Amino acid sequence: MRITIAGTGYVGLTTAVLLAYIGHDVTGVDIDERKLELLNEGKSPIHEAGIEPLLISLGSRLHFTNDLRAAAREADIIMIAVGTPEKMNGEADTQYVEAAARTVAEGMVEGRAYTIVVKSTVPIGTNRRVAHVIQRTLDESGKAVRFAVASNPEFLREGLALYDSFYPDRIVIGAEDELAVDMLSRMYRPILEQTFDPPDVIPRREGYGLPPLITTDAISAEMIKYAANAYLALKISFMNEIAGLAEKVGADITEVARGIGLDTRIGPRYLAAGLGWGGSCFPKDTAALLAVGREYHYEMPIVEAARTVNVLNRTRILEKMQSLLKGVRGRTIAVLGLAFKPDTDDIRESPSIAIIKMLIERGAHVRVHDPLAMERAKDAFSASEQAEITFSSTPYEAAEGAEALLLATEWKMYKELDLDGLKKRMRIPVMIDGRNIYDPEKLRAMGWIYTGVGR
Ligand code: UGA
Repeated sequence: MRITIAGTGYVGLTTAVLLAYIGHDVTGVDIDERKLELLNEGKSPIHEAGIEPLLISLGSRLHFTNDLRAAAREADIIMIAVGTPEKMNGEADTQYVEAAARTVAEGMVEGRAYTIVVKSTVPIGTNRRVAHVIQRTLDESGKAVRFAVASNPEFLREGLALYDSFYPDRIVIGAEDELAVDMLSRMYRPILEQTFDPPDVIPRREGYGLPPLITTDAISAEMIKYAANAYLALKISFMNEIAGLAEKVGADITEVARGIGLDTRIGPRYLAAGLGWGGSCFPKDTAALLAVGREYHYEMPIVEAARTVNVLNRTRILEKMQSLLKGVRGRTIAVLGLAFKPDTDDIRESPSIAIIKMLIERGAHVRVHDPLAMERAKDAFSASEQAEITFSSTPYEAAEGAEALLLATEWKMYKELDLDGLKKRMRIPVMIDGRNIYDPEKLRAMGWIYTGVGR
């Protein structure tokens, strides 16, 4: 099938690679010339495990252009995967989605049938709006074209985006029109039946079963996306709330997580207490869900609370540091990890960045390290903030002379540190393990003043 994808961000590019790999002829479209240049050289503008070798291996099955109108004309399926930035009031801004829909309609020609797929995370009702925009554009130019619109939300995680695309838990198609359901079922067939040869760089895990296909209406599909992210965010916030109480009563949150996670009704994942959630999805999507609620004068105290707990969590870490050090003003604090989670250079809404800003505001000097996100992180700080930050090239360098160390992102390399060597470089060996990756007893035996989250 011929597929055009508008937008080559995390979602668009991963989907383009996936679909080309399973045999489709894919065109990725972007307006960013720098990105296109990189992609045409087989280089990925995003950091994703396995993406570059695949980009190179796909050859002519995957190409990139800046001309959406022309690329849409020739396609059977056009996927819209452009950004939906957060507006001041929390709503997701769909102006780029609508603009893409208009351009796609301008490219459509009579005598062909098109399926337009909304992949971006969009407010409830956007699919209907996209269908309207396309119809209006066609009417304006007097064209009669058969088209169908479908919602096809993605559930991929940054850093594991390709893995999640090749081996999804489920595929959701929201469409009223049989044409769209038929086209998308055919497009995803190799994934649904797992008939492709797994790429060397993204092997299939043992025991992975076939992913179910959920076909539903577009509104429900749009809601599935928001509800999934909000639920995962609140699962984590719930554990962070329990972690606070665990500290008061002397329980260990990692034991509590193990104990409740084995209940199949709860499940073991997304129960890790720590600095809380960040990234481009949970913060934005929970805000957008609340914005939808407000539109209907419908209160959503649970989603609201998940967000409140997430912010509170950061202040709590700071307070912990204040009380351990008897104040942070004039102190030097090391922070390991800037990315919002490991295996990505994404620092959007990273708890680490927020905490560093609070530390600086309270008069601390901060020495930071991250294996991947240093360059990107620099832009997140103002010039005066940067003056209070030492960007260090190793975690050991970051620890030099520090009076406390905050482990903010659970990178694999931080789990393998020479903790003795690290400690020797510090002025005061205070360890605040913001992701609970170290063994408290072992660290205390080594002479660290250790504190985690909820243990
Ligand atoms: C999230 C969802 O997991 C994806 O399913 C979804 O497709 C994506 O948003 C999206 O809407 O595009 P992502 O933002 O890449 O994916 O990140 P996650 O791996 O889910 O982690 C989110 C945050 O939760 C991170 O800051 C992570 O550190 C934190 N987290 C995760 C915890 O604090 N505890 C946990 O147990 C798990």
